[in-house]
Amino acid sequence: MSNDEKNDPLIIIVSNRGPFSFETKEDGSYRVRRGSGGLVTALSALAQKHDVLWVASAMSDADRQWAEEQGHKIEEVEEIYLKLVIHDEAQYQKYYNTISNPLLWFIQHQLWDIPRSPTITSQTWDAWENGYRPINKGFAQAIASSVAEQDPGRPIVIFVQDYHLYMVPHYLREIVGDRVQIQPFIHIPWPGPDAWRILPAEIRTPILASLLQSNRVGFQTEKDAFNFVQTCRFYLPGAHSRGSRNSIDYQGRLVGANAYPISVDVEKVKELGQEAQTQLLKSQLINFISDRRLILRVDRIEPSKNILRGLAAYRTLLEEYPEHQGKVQMMALLVPSRMEVDEYQDYLQQIMAQAGMINAKFSEALWEPVRIVVGDNYHRAIGAMQIYDVLLVNPIADGMNLVAKEGVLVNQRNGVLLLSEHAGAFYELGDHALIVSSFDVYGTAQAMHHALTMRSAEREQRAEVLREIVEKADVRRWFYDQLEDALEVKRNS
Ligand code: G6P
Repeated sequence: MSNDEKNDPLIIIVSNRGPFSFETKEDGSYRVRRGSGGLVTALSALAQKHDVLWVASAMSDADRQWAEEQGHKIEEVEEIYLKLVIHDEAQYQKYYNTISNPLLWFIQHQLWDIPRSPTITSQTWDAWENGYRPINKGFAQAIASSVAEQDPGRPIVIFVQDYHLYMVPHYLREIVGDRVQIQPFIHIPWPGPDAWRILPAEIRTPILASLLQSNRVGFQTEKDAFNFVQTCRFYLPGAHSRGSRNSIDYQGRLVGANAYPISVDVEKVKELGQEAQTQLLKSQLINFISDRRLILRVDRIEPSKNILRGLAAYRTLLEEYPEHQGKVQMMALLVPSRMEVDEYQDYLQQIMAQAGMINAKFSEALWEPVRIVVGDNYHRAIGAMQIYDVLLVNPIADGMNLVAKEGVLVNQRNGVLLLSEHAGAFYELGDHALIVSSFDVYGTAQAMHHALTMRSAEREQRAEVLREIVEKADVRRWFYDQLEDALEVKRNS
């Protein structure tokens, strides 16, 4: 890695899932696949100016093979230096499938059915001690070895992404001390202190204390940042906020808690909308929908997305307002996710059953009221977003929800956004959407009716403002704001 400019910062991104994955070709070479996440785009632009190193898990056999052949060294892949960490498979399973998803994910989205689950068993403790901790330590060691290769005076900023890696700041400080800036960003909601009571203190305390080894922690919304400060104050002896709502004083370190709302790559999403494949899939959808109004949702198959209550609301709409029968089409484009976790498998089965019940009750010869499409096709999703009349985004809890932002950006029919007050996007888009309470099926049905009968001038006005809001806040800004704040801390320290 070049290191011409001693003062040019090295930026290290750390995440469980990396920006690229590898496939082996017949001749033994590799095909590199780029992930669709916005962070890669933000960093590709940045990588023209600064050195960017991304540290992630080797997740497939080809990833591991690539990492081994590179001798565990970093390699420049499309301007970004990549280092894949090879983990012990059994440890990784415990870290990913027992602690990260579901335990932490379910706590932070408040999905547990508290009288029954979760139960912390010896299996959970084993996964914490022999999965989550060692995998986080492995990440810290991989980062530390890259830090050791740099000139001692070079500024290094480490952006640790998300709930898989809460223990990384702790292990990293143990190895490299205050040589580096650590600034995690948490993509998912951070609930208030009560939700964290589920974790035994012996797990909760190390997590909070580790995050407070950072210089600053980033969140999607002010509410998440505020909840984090409260959680630390409540559970961590010696953590104070001295009158400030957005920083914590802990063991001599002042740690900021700031909101950086994530966004989409505006240009890329728009370009994708123009691609031939998107247009083809869109025209197929138009043929299927005919002259009916489209109520669309696009989600990972994920309990926090509240797909079941969305279907129940649609059913209520058809019952309460029979004039929409035969004139409206609900379509759910659902991307399979974490199918190794039981809760996710069960959820998919319940979705299919509930959609089947609606179709059984209301279908007519030429009308199937709900169409569920399971698969991962981003072109199809963008094509469908261009033509919705109503976009339903009703999660129980969601860090941001980028579907809401992509949807309003590409929609061509002045569609109405139905948005849950519990999606992070609510704070930016809420004034121009119809707001629904995630749990209120009746209210969501009323909102659907309101959207379907809204005057066209009002729809147009709402849609225009929503599009402008998203156009102004591209994903690059999300990342640059964090970088600027990090470098500011460095200059001042
Ligand atoms: C969603 C969440 C991210 C999270 C990711 C992990 O996209 O919004 O916060 O990091 O899931 O997904 P994975 O498929 O790697 O488990």
